[in-house]
Amino acid sequence: MPILEVKNLVTRFYTIEGVVHALNGVSFDLEEGEILGIVGESGSGKSVAMMSLLNLLPMPPARIERGKALFYENGGQDSVDLLTLTKAERRRVRGGKIGYIFQDALSALNPVMTVGRQIGESLMEHLGLSGEDAKHRAVELLEHVGIPGAEKRYYNYPHQFSGGMRQRVMIAIAIACDPKIVIADEPTTALDVTVQAQIVELIKRLQEELRLAVIWITHDLGVVAGIADRVLVMYAGYPVEISLVDDLYNNPVHPYTKGLLGALPGIGGKRAGRLESIEGAPPDLLAKPKHCQFVWRCPYAFDRCRNEMPELVEIAPKHYTKCFL
Ligand SMILES: Nc1ncnc2c1ncn2[C@@H]1O[C@H](COP(=O)(O)OP(=O)(O)O)[C@@H](O)[C@H]1O
Ligand SMILES: [Mg+2]
Repeated sequence: MPILEVKNLVTRFYTIEGVVHALNGVSFDLEEGEILGIVGESGSGKSVAMMSLLNLLPMPPARIERGKALFYENGGQDSVDLLTLTKAERRRVRGGKIGYIFQDALSALNPVMTVGRQIGESLMEHLGLSGEDAKHRAVELLEHVGIPGAEKRYYNYPHQFSGGMRQRVMIAIAIACDPKIVIADEPTTALDVTVQAQIVELIKRLQEELRLAVIWITHDLGVVAGIADRVLVMYAGYPVEISLVDDLYNNPVHPYTKGLLGALPGIGGKRAGRLESIEGAPPDLLAKPKHCQFVWRCPYAFDRCRNEMPELVEIAPKHYTKCFL
């Protein structure tokens, strides 16, 4: 059962330098209770895609030009388009039905409000809890995400927490209102390696306990391999490959994915846990895309690739790619 269906999402930024074609037609779905990993180079549109869904982009310069994002509720019986919600509906969905874990907890949290109150206010707003109940529940949540001495920590400010503990606080806020979906945008990138592993474990545990659908953006293919059910590979504002995780590792189809996995001849060598860097630079997003955007770096490119835009097509069950090959 899909819980989210994104169709042909197009987002641009109208800047002094010109129009930035950040998302050029992003389509994917998310099933109830699954973990969808999203990988791709910096600047490929991963964050803009997620922020478009939740109306978190500064508008202007951002503009969502096209698309639908259907969020299904009550076992698929009702759906709302996240992109056309009223303000009141948006408040209900954001934070209430869809939680967001940002890469940088320090800038996402309010520096002048205790963490307890930040959790509690969300509970009062979305679940209608009284102040006392909200406090009680906030302490429980802090305990639940592994913060020792939660009763006392409730009264601390974000700067009094370590990076890992702050990320736990943000996770507590993301899950506070019993969401259906949690979006984790590079949740461990800013943390030390040992702490990273703990946060990955925590999110994985909560996902199972709360039966969350999770969209997990990361640079770390090792993490994706370990936790994701499916993977979406972004390139220059497009999904270029979507597949079950094992298929992606065993049979990557798009040359960009092969490059990331170090399976492209001449690039990277043997498969590694981390993303390989691929020779060349991503395309200039100020130019309107007219043909495959990977041609400049693709060792297999032929004439058609320079003249036409491939569609994202299903080449095997649940395996999609956007490539003429
Ligand atoms: N406020 C903005 N103004 C102009 N361009 C932006 C803005 N925010 C993001 N972009 C552009 O959108 C593209 C996608 O960015 P982003 O989604 O943040 O990439 P990432 O995949 O690293 O998360 C980038 O090229 C970025 O320059
Ligand atoms: Mg990002």
